[in-house]
Amino acid sequence: MKGVILAAGKGSRLYPVTHVTPKPLLPIANRPTLHYAFEKLIEMGVTEICIVVGENETVMKEALGDGSAHGVQLSYVRQTAPNGLAHAVGFAKDFVAGDSFVLYLGDAMYSEGFTAHAKKFLESGAANLNIVQPVPDPSRFGVANVDGDRIVKLVEKPKEPESNLAMAGLYFFGPQLWEILPDLKPSARGEYEITDAIQMLVDRGDTVLAGVYDGAWFDTGTLDSFLETSAFLIGGESRLEGTVHGKVGADVVIGEGATVTCESIEDSVVLPGAVVTVAGHIRHALLGGPVNSSGNVENVILHGDYHG
Ligand code: G1P
Repeated sequence: MKGVILAAGKGSRLYPVTHVTPKPLLPIANRPTLHYAFEKLIEMGVTEICIVVGENETVMKEALGDGSAHGVQLSYVRQTAPNGLAHAVGFAKDFVAGDSFVLYLGDAMYSEGFTAHAKKFLESGAANLNIVQPVPDPSRFGVANVDGDRIVKLVEKPKEPESNLAMAGLYFFGPQLWEILPDLKPSARGEYEITDAIQMLVDRGDTVLAGVYDGAWFDTGTLDSFLETSAFLIGGESRLEGTVHGKVGADVVIGEGATVTCESIEDSVVLPGAVVTVAGHIRHALLGGPVNSSGNVENVILHGDYHG
């Protein structure tokens, strides 16, 4: 089985930090986000991985190279326009070359592994198995209706969800996907949805399974979720690889070589190498520096020459 990671997004919900560091490379608990994905894929025995990149292509290639430093073999393809997940995966067809593959959303983070699900998918001979999780707010996600462990209907971000099972960003596919992709039409939001592609597999009678995931799952795409993921990973204990002059509270990650001078800091991430000087406190912030503030810094994402 091979691996395909979708990492072409602009990370616009984390601007301006992602203008400088692409979201898949942003360190969470001091490790680039994608390193966690590699770890989960290696656990499943998947080491041949294709990363679908976008405008971040050069930076991504420079940072991750051929993957040998991370125990994986990386190749890259470029999505030519941001037209949705099913459009992005299409660029990996030649790489997958008839094999089955795990599709991994580059901003998803998981606490537990997927080896049992991978085994189930491979042994079942199903066209597709999707990781799902019950959530309180299914309208934000692709939503699956199931009959036992078979998915019978899928809707992308339904206004009135018929189930609480959200598609959790990890999918196993056989080569059947390539047969239906050319017939996929864009959705109302103008994107080629992976959810709609899977519905086409269901419609033509292929076996499409759901695998319920019990671990913690985060989408790291917003400031809140980014900090929540960091806090979860470091478990309340701050992780300091740089220098802090000031009082350090809970859930603080200071990247290697960063220097922070402040009165106090809590629930915040400072990226590696950043120089941050804040007269007051730093709370609930993602800082790439250089940041210079004569007051407090709270609920913000800052990167590059901030003086305030
Ligand atoms: C995408 C998928 C959706 C899935 C979600 C998981 O949505 O389209 O089906 O539930 O990822 O994070 P997006 O976050 O791109 O809107």
